Amino acid sequence: MTSNFKSGTVWVSDNLPVLRGMNSNSVDLVYLDPPFNSNRNYEAPIGSKAAGASFKDMWTLDDIDVHEHGELADRNPGAYSVIESAKQVHGKSMMSYCIFMAVRLLELERVLRNTGSIYLHCDPTASHYLKLLMDSFFGKGNFRNELIWYYRGAGTPKLDFARRHDVILRYAYNERMFNPDPARQPYAEETKKRFNHYIGNVRGGQDFGQQSLNPKGKHPDDVITDIQPIAPSAKERLGYPTQKPLTLLERIIEVSSNEGDMILDPFCGCATSLVAADRLQRQWAGIDLSPLAVNLVNERIIKDRGPLWGKVIVPDQPPTRTDLGKMPNYRTHRHRLYGEQEGICIGCNTHFPFRVMDVDHILPRSRGGTDHMDNLQLLCSGCNRSKGNKTMAEWRAMQ
Ligand SMILES: C[S@@+](CC[C@H](N)C(=O)[O-])C[C@H]1O[C@@H](n2cnc3c(N)ncnc32)[C@H](O)[C@@H]1O
Repeated sequence: MTSNFKSGTVWVSDNLPVLRGMNSNSVDLVYLDPPFNSNRNYEAPIGSKAAGASFKDMWTLDDIDVHEHGELADRNPGAYSVIESAKQVHGKSMMSYCIFMAVRLLELERVLRNTGSIYLHCDPTASHYLKLLMDSFFGKGNFRNELIWYYRGAGTPKLDFARRHDVILRYAYNERMFNPDPARQPYAEETKKRFNHYIGNVRGGQDFGQQSLNPKGKHPDDVITDIQPIAPSAKERLGYPTQKPLTLLERIIEVSSNEGDMILDPFCGCATSLVAADRLQRQWAGIDLSPLAVNLVNERIIKDRGPLWGKVIVPDQPPTRTDLGKMPNYRTHRHRLYGEQEGICIGCNTHFPFRVMDVDHILPRSRGGTDHMDNLQLLCSGCNRSKGNKTMAEWRAMQ
């Protein structure tokens, strides 16, 4: 299915309505580096290019839409159980974080092509919960690697081992793209000595000749040790909190996609993945709550391509899906919904005659909701007027 958005697009928005509006099977590679539930507020230093950027990484039930919790129970009972377990084991903050992530992973699974790959960058605070969620959405059989990004750093806790790694969970389908060459590493001197010699007639008189190593280098391991975080004095550093190195993103993109493929980063921050994708002649799109993402991607790509590069596209609405075929007008579902709801308004739980019932979008169309039957319900005219352009959960919370 073709994408219903153009390469070079960045939405300044919550990513959920944008993902809901994207066509299914339209993205080749997803990289996401969401907040990790690290219980911190991140702020860029004053004076840096990213000054003003900040995001919260502390979660409470107020951060999520309780309606989404219910939606998960219906659409993915496995994920719902993981969320319940997170609450039992870790508490409501982790539960809220898992709900936030689960509804987004549900959409990412839908938009990813069945030849595609997804890399979820996290840290050990939540990686074990996220892995269970990833198993429920992408399938345990499609789990490919837990990449460990090991880095040097300062700070040595007195009573613990020093924390020096992030986790990147990689899931991909059977027909995935995997090109190890850009990630190959030099062989150890010891290995070179052992392999580069003449083996001779060793087995059953057969001449095995010279045993040699792959001239392109050693097949990459699942521990990345040769890429360091951006140094405080590095040119690449913008001061954006949690900015990742370009080399890390270039590696992921080169290994798991081809030129021309569509790369999506739904938490794009200062757009590192988008800049890497652009350098590697891939198509790209990003989403971030912070308007700074747009300025930074413009600046970074103009630096690479020169001032003739047209600016990033910044739509003010989520995309509208074009892959659902021509759907009948949503009002044609009125009879069926009346039957299913037994004439009862979902809003006030009261029985009404057919003529005063209106078809309502549970998630409004302006927020990425579709005309699909799953997103429709009947409300009495009073409830429908009162709900207006809100989601069902927002409306209920107001009441
Ligand atoms: C860990 S940072 C990503 C950093 C990025 N990988 C980079 O190299 O710059 C997480 C980003 O997610 C964004 N964010 C948090 N919640 C979001 C949401 N619901 N929708 C879109 N972006 C969100 C934050 O603004 C922040 O920029």
